[in-house]
Amino acid sequence: MNYDTILVEEKKAIGTITINRPKKLNALNRQTIQELHDAFEALETNKAIKVIILTGSGEKAFVAGADISEFADFTVEEGGKLAAEGQKLLFDFVENLKTPVIAAINGFALGGGLELAMACHFRIASDNARVGLPEVSLGVIPGYGGTQRLPQLIGKGRAMELIMTASMIDAERALNYGLVNHVTSQENLVSLCEDLANKISKNSPVAIGYAIKAVNAGFKNTDGYSAEIKAFGKCFGTSDFKEGTTAFLNKRTADFPGE
Ligand code: COA
Repeated sequence: MNYDTILVEEKKAIGTITINRPKKLNALNRQTIQELHDAFEALETNKAIKVIILTGSGEKAFVAGADISEFADFTVEEGGKLAAEGQKLLFDFVENLKTPVIAAINGFALGGGLELAMACHFRIASDNARVGLPEVSLGVIPGYGGTQRLPQLIGKGRAMELIMTASMIDAERALNYGLVNHVTSQENLVSLCEDLANKISKNSPVAIGYAIKAVNAGFKNTDGYSAEIKAFGKCFGTSDFKEGTTAFLNKRTADFPGE
């Protein structure tokens, strides 16, 4: 598929999506959100792809936020619609994918940019990364899930402070808060993500999909423990489970069919 605002690369089991509007610091406009949705959907349905890495083009930004020029004149109704459609099309969509998504934060991740990174399953940052939710400095609040996912990841008090002050934190503080899992140099960022992706891709894609579902269930208005029990039971009906247990008992490496 051809895209104008993103680049998609497939290398063995890894699909990499690069948001490619460097002159606008990769700000998310309507077209980018739609193209990201389409690219994530295409990679999710490609059985060869086991992990997706999401990053930004250039050395300065992952994503500097939603494109402010697009919503500056919006009405109350249009504002509500923007958040609802964006959450459905991209942010919730990414969070609920069966394929693991790693955010490679290569610079500024602000507003919708941090919200997108938080919708990914985990985050790795380069040492020049600066992240925050500056929306209240524009007279608006985070609308792509930021008021929910930030407290989930770093705790309510820290999230309140970060949102209210509209300030940015550097990569070290983000690491210390548990917002990102690792910090590395910009040159090593993608290779570290690829190393992790390669480790993940050796495991059962079906079981990983169920694990994502069970973990996410605990953060919704549902009983996470019941969701885990249900997903755990379902694993026993999969070919991946047969292969994983047979390989272990026969002292060989598993070769998961992904079914
Ligand atoms: N929406 C639209 N355009 C954006 C943008 C955004 N969220 N963030 C950056 N840009 C554009 C700038 O308008 C500028 O475009 P121009 O060259 O046509 O004027 C270009 O990207 C480069 O940004 P600039 O501000 O000149 O870079 P900088 O290095 O001086 O500052 C930031 C970098 C990230 C601190 C600054 O761009 C910024 O504060 N961006 C907005 C962050 C924000 O509030 N995000 C939340 C939105 S809800």
